[in-house]
Amino acid sequence: MPKLIVVTREGEERELEGEAGLSVMEVIRDAGIDELLALCGGCCSCATCHVHVDPAFADALPPMSDDENDLLDSSDHRDSTSRLSCQLPFGEALDGLKIRIAEED
Ligand code: FES
Repeated sequence: MPKLIVVTREGEERELEGEAGLSVMEVIRDAGIDELLALCGGCCSCATCHVHVDPAFADALPPMSDDENDLLDSSDHRDSTSRLSCQLPFGEALDGLKIRIAEED
């Protein structure tokens, strides 16, 4: 299974195995990392699944929708690496992807 590397807010690095077909948010949540709140369950309406993605993987990510872009604008911690993890389908193409859970807004 493809691997996802997650850095928590405390700086702890964890390597997860993610099932292809889940979103990055679901892989993180299923691993029991509950600081990623993902309150809306992946409907792209809450922005509590905000992560920073390793720029090396930027080209492998799907383009950002207007809704995702607008929601990220509501975060004080947005930067050029910001994405909503529920909008990122996980799979072999993202094997080794490293993300950092964004600061809490
Ligand atoms: S889980 Fe709510 S926007 Fe991603």
